[in-house]
Amino acid sequence: ATSSDPYDVVVIGGGPGGYVAAIKAAQLGFKTACIEKRGSLGGTCLNVGCIPSKAMLNNSHIFHQTQHDLKNRGIDVSEVKLNLPKMLAAKQSSVKALTGGIETYLFKKNGVDYIKGEASFASPSKINVNLLEGGETQVEAKNVIIATGSEVTPFPGIEIDEERIVSSTGALELKEVPKKMVVIGGGIIGLELGSVWSRLGAEVTVVEYLGAVGAGMDGEVGKQFQKILQKQGFKFKLNTKVVSGQRDGDKVTLKVDAAKGGKEETLEADVVLVAIGRRPVTKGLNLEAIGVETDKRGRIIIDDQFNTSAKGVKCIGDVTFGPMLAHKAEEEGIAAVEIIKTGHGHVNYDAIPSVVYTHPEVAWVGKNEEELKAAGVAYKIGKYPFAANSRAKTNQDADGFVKFIVEKETDQVLGVHIIGPNAGEMIASATLALEYKASAEDIARTCHAHPTLSEAFKEAALASYDKAINY
Ligand code: FAD
Ligand code: NAI
Repeated sequence: ATSSDPYDVVVIGGGPGGYVAAIKAAQLGFKTACIEKRGSLGGTCLNVGCIPSKAMLNNSHIFHQTQHDLKNRGIDVSEVKLNLPKMLAAKQSSVKALTGGIETYLFKKNGVDYIKGEASFASPSKINVNLLEGGETQVEAKNVIIATGSEVTPFPGIEIDEERIVSSTGALELKEVPKKMVVIGGGIIGLELGSVWSRLGAEVTVVEYLGAVGAGMDGEVGKQFQKILQKQGFKFKLNTKVVSGQRDGDKVTLKVDAAKGGKEETLEADVVLVAIGRRPVTKGLNLEAIGVETDKRGRIIIDDQFNTSAKGVKCIGDVTFGPMLAHKAEEEGIAAVEIIKTGHGHVNYDAIPSVVYTHPEVAWVGKNEEELKAAGVAYKIGKYPFAANSRAKTNQDADGFVKFIVEKETDQVLGVHIIGPNAGEMIASATLALEYKASAEDIARTCHAHPTLSEAFKEAALASYDKAINY
């Protein structure tokens, strides 16, 4: 191909969906470009999402543990002080290393052209790019993949200034630890970033509209999770809706209302985090001009091969249906490109793990009890507490349990729900079990190393169709 030939594949958006799709396309021999307007690759996830939040979660955990837990382990430290600017700088250097690595290493190595600018459709195969360095260019493509991701859903009437009223982006950059922080929304972002600032010293109150926290996790796990977070100092106002909010100098006042006809209350905070979900980004793409349809929630409508309603234009990741997760976007990116190449490509939406990176972590994959009850599926449960796991005990980190849900007749694994140390790593085994349609017995008869946390996983599988040994 020469430089004037059209591209085989142009990807709009350089997040986990888009940059992975671009690399895969180049690896399959396609002439490929990726257009990104942020000035940095990696999208929400690497710049203002997964990566910086995990840096802050890890380091705030170490700080908190040093302050409150090292004494119990025979480690005396004299004075523990927070150096917040340094903690923020450590976070930023992880972000820089990872985002820079895509541009200077991965894209170069695989031969992906990186076009820095904002993309807008002129036709299904012609894309105008408003270049970051100034000026415009147009690229032509045989196939286009839209991967423009998502942004925070604003709360009507409560304006985000990223200082006192913040989205997750501002909450990753606070210049000082707030005394009082109110989080609107008890979902994943609220609990992760609430944990960060709670560990660093903030008094955190979560206001959640529904009767449970954790946005869709298994009910039993969610209840246990809430109890553990309360022990850590979180306050929860469930079944409560925020009516209005206002910044006045360095304070924010929120009016909240018990959803089921309770009394109105005023909450004061130094910082309010708005975390009520995310919405797709399609602004500026000029989708109307090429007839790409969106649904009521603004998501781009696709078929089971990621095709939009415009010919040759596919779509993946947060901007379309499904859970808004980086690994889901990546899987779709690979599958979409494979479909362009071979006509085949597949994502198993029944085996996408979810992880909440608090301490303890919460992780799950497959169906939860509520879903199975609603679907009328007969199931059995196997549960094993970390308090009966030798490694968790010796680590003095034994809150939580592993819960297997298996099909009643066949013992086939339908869902695994874990709250406990390292749940996020352990869930990979459960995901494999679902992919291979394993039975609980397949897992319980697999040798697991001793002493490891994974033995709790094996014992929970065993408990679902027989009896656990150590509990
Ligand atoms: P995005 O990552 O949003 O990337 C889209 C990119 O497209 C953006 O960089 C944007 O600038 C660019 N773009 C948009 N329009 C245009 C245009 N017209 N022209 C050019 N470029 C354009 N997920 C997890 O799996 N694990 C986690 O631990 C996790 N933690 C998170 C923590 C936070 C605080 C947040 C906010 C999110 C987190 N997520 C996590 C979710 C994860 O970030 C998203 O699911 C993921 O980034 C989606 O990838 P994507 O490629 O679809 O879109
Ligand atoms: P979310 O959907 O996880 O949670 C939003 C919560 O806000 C829900 O519990 C909802 O009931 C509540 N809510 C909605 N409107 C409200 C209102 N008016 N008042 C009070 N509560 C209200 O969304 P969140 O936490 O903003 O995260 C966005 C996305 O980012 C999620 O879809 C998640 O998948 C992704 N993410 C993933 C992470 C991970 O995988 N570890 C970490 C952070 C984000």
